[in-house]
Amino acid sequence: MPNESPRGFGIDVGGSGVKGGVVNLETGELIGDRIKILTPHPATPDAIAETAAKIVEESGWEGKIGVTLPSVVKDGKVYTAANIDHSWIGVQADELFSKAFGGRQVAVLNDADAAGLAEDAHGAGKDMTGVVLLLTFGTGIGSALINHGLLMPNTELGHMEVHGKEAEHRAASSVKDRKGLSYEKWAEHVTKVLNAYEALFWPDLFIAGGGISRKSEKWIPHLDIRTPIVPAKLLNTAGIVGAAMAAEGATATPESALS
Ligand code: BGC
Repeated sequence: MPNESPRGFGIDVGGSGVKGGVVNLETGELIGDRIKILTPHPATPDAIAETAAKIVEESGWEGKIGVTLPSVVKDGKVYTAANIDHSWIGVQADELFSKAFGGRQVAVLNDADAAGLAEDAHGAGKDMTGVVLLLTFGTGIGSALINHGLLMPNTELGHMEVHGKEAEHRAASSVKDRKGLSYEKWAEHVTKVLNAYEALFWPDLFIAGGGISRKSEKWIPHLDIRTPIVPAKLLNTAGIVGAAMAAEGATATPESALS
C-alpha cells in the first residue's frame, strides 16, 4: 500500500476508562474503533498494565505504543500521582508497559501533554503558531504549554497556587460538581485561574479540554480574560492521538519549532 498514511497507537489512561486506538498521524483521526475498558480499581500499575495489554491485543496492533498517565513522567518514570493510585510513584512505566505488551517500544507521557500535542497539531490549535496553553478540566486540571508546536512537558499548572488555593481545587470541573456550582459561578473561579496563567505565561491561545469543554457555550462567555479561548476539538480522542504521536516521534523538535 504505497500511499498509506503513517499510523501509530495510543492508550489514554483515565480515572474511569482506559482507551486506545490506531491513529492516522497525518490527520489526527482514529482509524477504526476506540477501544475502551473500565479502569480497574484500585488502579495499580499492574492492574492498569494488564488492562492496557487487553486493549492492544483486541486491536491487533503490532508496532510501538504511546501511553498517557495523569502524572509527571520523565524518561518513562512516574514522579507524581495526584489523582491516581499512589503506588505509581517511582514506577518505570515505560518498562512496565513494554513488558505487558510483549517487549515492544513504549513511550509514556502526561495525559494533558498528550492532549495538548494532539490539539495543537490537529485540533483547536491547528492554525495557531504562537504559545498555546491547553487546560483539561476534569477531576483535576491538566496543562500543556506549547510554543510553535514544541511542548514544554510536565507543567502541572493545576497545582499552581491561585489566591491561596491550588488551581485544581478551585476550578477543576469536579469542584463544580461537588459544590453544585452554576456554570456562571464556576466560571468566576476559572477566570481567577486563567488570569493567573495569563499574568505569567502570556499565551496567545487557551484551549479548554476535558468533558466540560463540550458545554463550552455555557461557561466560556462568562469568563473575564484577555486571551482568546476555544474549546478542544478532538475531545475524547486527544489523549490517544497525542500518545500515538509521542510513540512515533511525530512531534515538533527544537529545530523544527524554530524554523
Ligand atoms: C495531575 C496532572 C494531570 C491532571 C489531569 C493533575 O492532578 O497532577 O499530572 O495532567 O491532573 O489529569
